[in-house]
Amino acid sequence: MKKIIAKTYDDVSKVGADMLADVIRNKPRAIIGLATGSTPIGMYKKLVEYHQNKTLDFSQVTAFNLDEYYPILNSNPQSYHYFMWEHLFAHINMKAEMINLPNGQCEDPQAECAAYEKKIAQMGGIDVQVLGIGNNGHIGFNEPASHLALATHLTSLSKSTIEANARFFSSAAEVPTQALTMGMGTIMQAKSIILLITGSNKAAVAKEIFRGQVTTEIPASLLHLHQNVTVLLDEAAAALL
Ligand code: GLP
Repeated sequence: MKKIIAKTYDDVSKVGADMLADVIRNKPRAIIGLATGSTPIGMYKKLVEYHQNKTLDFSQVTAFNLDEYYPILNSNPQSYHYFMWEHLFAHINMKAEMINLPNGQCEDPQAECAAYEKKIAQMGGIDVQVLGIGNNGHIGFNEPASHLALATHLTSLSKSTIEANARFFSSAAEVPTQALTMGMGTIMQAKSIILLITGSNKAAVAKEIFRGQVTTEIPASLLHLHQNVTVLLDEAAAALL
């Protein structure tokens, strides 16, 4: 696990965007895995800038997002579908048919998850997966548990995640209690992974991860078992390391 500490959130966003841009420049048909949450917003802003100043072309890129609430309408401003269009897809030249998110409005979540997993495999797997992290160590919506799921699946959100994500909704009661998420196996099969950790509220979980122990109670700790993970932290998140 490689660790890069940049000074500020903006610095982390730039380093992350540059890493992703390098993958795309070296492989125009790259398959990229994307994340939501407040952490990657600055990185997406940079990528939009690179596209606008004509140094980055997304026309052949395929994207798969990590997760989506369930059930939720794509048109709901709190959906990850809406988030991704607002922060990235509406501003770059990625083809709509190459944009993939688990469908929060599907009727059969099991079938949706199986099809999502199959499509990632058929495309040859993810070249670079961007991750944020929950305060409790979750990645995607793989919550701390005694057992973790391998493949894309329907999951229940933990109380702490519902509380943490309530800031985006009018109240905690509005937060969907379930989500569709790539599994730990889906994430671990990505050829490379960039984990973004920023802000002082993530310092404690960053410290836990860098203790080096692997436990399903901190799903992000499983990333120690992957050969090509870069963790990008700002100084606030790295304060306890
Ligand atoms: C959500 C997402 C995660 C994300 C996490 C942290 O629960 N499912 O993918 O990493 O929030 O969000 P933030 O970056 O806003 O702290």
